[in-house]
Amino acid sequence: MAPLLLFFGLALLTLASPPPENSNGLQPRAVSETLADILDNLRDGVNVDDIKQSVLPDFWSIPGTDEITKELGLNETGIRALPLEFLNIPGYANYTSQGWNVRFHGMAYKQPLSGPGVVSNHTLDEAANKFLPDFDISELQPHEQDNSRNLTSAILSLPQEGERLLFALNASGGRGFQGGWTGVVEWAKTTDSRGEISGFVQLPTNSENGLPDGNATNAMVVELDVHTNRTDTGNATAYLVPRDGITILSDIDDILRVTKIYVPKEGLLNSFARDFVPWMNMPEIFTGWFRQHPDSPYHFHYLTTTPEQATRVYMDFIYKTYPLGSFDTRPLNFTTVDQTFSVRRTLLNEIFQTFPNRKFILIGDTTNSDVMSNYPELVSAFPGQVQCILLRNTSATDPDNGFPYNTKGFETLKQEQYMFFTTPDDLRGLDFANGDCRNASARMGTVDFSWQGLPFEKSAARGRARGDMWAAVVVTVAFAVLL
Ligand SMILES: *[C@@H]1O[C@H](CO)[C@@H](O)[C@H](O)[C@H]1NC(C)=O
Ligand SMILES: *[C@@H]1O[C@H](CO)[C@@H](O)[C@H](O)[C@H]1NC(C)=O
Ligand SMILES: *[C@@H]1O[C@H](CO)[C@@H](O)[C@H](O)[C@H]1NC(C)=O
Ligand SMILES: *[C@@H]1O[C@H](CO)[C@@H](O)[C@H](O)[C@H]1NC(C)=O
Ligand SMILES: *[C@@H]1O[C@H](CO)[C@@H](O)[C@H](O)[C@H]1NC(C)=O
Ligand SMILES: *[C@@H]1O[C@H](CO)[C@@H](O)[C@H](O)[C@H]1NC(C)=O
Ligand SMILES: *[C@@H]1O[C@H](CO)[C@@H](O)[C@H](O)[C@H]1NC(C)=O
Ligand SMILES: *[C@@H]1O[C@H](CO)[C@@H](O)[C@H](O)[C@H]1NC(C)=O
Ligand SMILES: *[C@@H]1O[C@H](CO)[C@@H](O)[C@H](O)[C@H]1NC(C)=O
Ligand SMILES: *[C@@H]1O[C@H](CO)[C@@H](O)[C@H](O)[C@H]1NC(C)=O
Ligand SMILES: *[C@@H]1O[C@H](CO)[C@@H](O)[C@H](O)[C@H]1NC(C)=O
Repeated sequence: MAPLLLFFGLALLTLASPPPENSNGLQPRAVSETLADILDNLRDGVNVDDIKQSVLPDFWSIPGTDEITKELGLNETGIRALPLEFLNIPGYANYTSQGWNVRFHGMAYKQPLSGPGVVSNHTLDEAANKFLPDFDISELQPHEQDNSRNLTSAILSLPQEGERLLFALNASGGRGFQGGWTGVVEWAKTTDSRGEISGFVQLPTNSENGLPDGNATNAMVVELDVHTNRTDTGNATAYLVPRDGITILSDIDDILRVTKIYVPKEGLLNSFARDFVPWMNMPEIFTGWFRQHPDSPYHFHYLTTTPEQATRVYMDFIYKTYPLGSFDTRPLNFTTVDQTFSVRRTLLNEIFQTFPNRKFILIGDTTNSDVMSNYPELVSAFPGQVQCILLRNTSATDPDNGFPYNTKGFETLKQEQYMFFTTPDDLRGLDFANGDCRNASARMGTVDFSWQGLPFEKSAARGRARGDMWAAVVVTVAFAVLL
């Protein structure tokens, strides 16, 4: 039970007070109990050092790594025999004077907890139980057990360093484009110690070779198939996004799917066990936007700070339910406390810098404190690029939500630049290409540019809500493998 106590401890801690400056405000007792549990569960052949590397941000220095490794008894043979897998996160490309510039981001890894014979289901179930308060995995429905084993083994995957990757690219697959360019990119660096690659690659200029003209008026978003020949698990699509146009950028948890991050127990069940479920009729609203301007469709970008290892579950859900688009998840390569607590802002800066001519529609919900501060900050950081901020007022539909939220960031914004809404229907028919942002007939709450939704007026007003369950999961797993 220790990790769960830890989790709830964190949830309370983060609700009531700012994160401690040096990040270690946890009780040593809970931490060491957790470690003992994990060690017991992972004895049959998993190298804790590798798990630690895959989940932990760099700034946690790890005492006693050798001791842990020794205690576990490393079995290299079993791990070496596992197939290499590659998570290829669907990227975006901008159009420059040298042609298309494509962003790649991915991770080479192995999954010992799902490899036949490396660990037993029993072990995997015990690891999965760490994430599920008040439930034993044996009490779940079979498909929920399956979900929970899959996500647990993904989170505990082992990054593969030093892998050389080659990508075959093909721009023939997409809708409405007949260009037919194919090419190969060899990634210049091998994967780093976290198994990651990340960066941009310039494709050849387009004039004679069948890539689209990204400067053309009414240019389309064109799909680029990406395949690495090391494994079939690394197929993905990158998106060639024209210089001008509108990008709809959305968070996922509690806006595109029901997570209930603000009720930690539910948040974990909805992430580790239950099938992902869309939030009300949001898919219908997105489909409406996808079809709104067939001659110059919007670009969709999904940006979540879910750890990279859990990305597949998120992508599978989004691509089954919402329009296709590029993706961002929490990268592993953050080396300072500062970077780790500003993941969302870093990712937002990167896409805003890549598309200085495009207008952005930013979508999220009030329980996410990163969203509540980062989205309005972009209005002054990138003048003219934010057309509209649309925030689900989670308190208005969900009485379970006890998270206060801060609307201070919106004080300097023009009222026509943002809208707090209640249900997806409030967004129906908004036409962004036509300059829309607000729906005059939707019911509006009060925006008083300070903390709202506080359980006790004023007393908790200095608190900094972090409605980011995944940050808590990362920290929980991190401390779980620490001494
Ligand atoms: C596209 O337009 C930009 C100006 O916005 C220009 O700098 C760039 O060279 C153009 N790209 C090509 C390949 O013509
Ligand atoms: C390594 O693990 C595999 C699979 O669990 C097992 O068959 C093998 O005997 C182990 N090797 C050693 C040296 O422990
Ligand atoms: C382990 O669980 C999976 C489903 O999650 C099942 O397909 C498999 O047969 C189980 N293996 C054993 C040895 O029970
Ligand atoms: C779990 O993972 C296995 C192997 O990757 C896959 O075949 C299965 O469909 C997954 N199950 C769920 C519920 O995602
Ligand atoms: C590129 O994709 C098209 C359409 O899917 C396919 O017909 C073609 O064979 C592919 N080319 C290569 C070199 O894979
Ligand atoms: C991660 O950061 C280190 C140091 O800044 C750098 O050497 C490495 O190439 C980075 N890896 C990726 C995938 O960006
Ligand atoms: C991938 O392609 C490269 C270059 O064509 C080749 O050297 C390598 O052997 C291929 N790898 C696999 C696993 O097919
Ligand atoms: C991945 O892409 C390659 C090349 O286009 C294709 O041969 C293979 O079937 C694809 N694999 C999966 C799992 O989609
Ligand atoms: C394209 O994206 C890169 C990387 O973000 C950026 O440095 C560059 O300025 C962008 N170029 C254009 C023409 O927008
Ligand atoms: C505005 O909100 C109302 C109430 O939710 C909804 O019925 C309507 O479709 C929305 N859209 C427009 C363009 O009025
Ligand atoms: C959110 O909804 C609550 C409950 O309906 C309301 O009191 C509050 O003013 C709303 N907040 C915003 C920013 O619209």
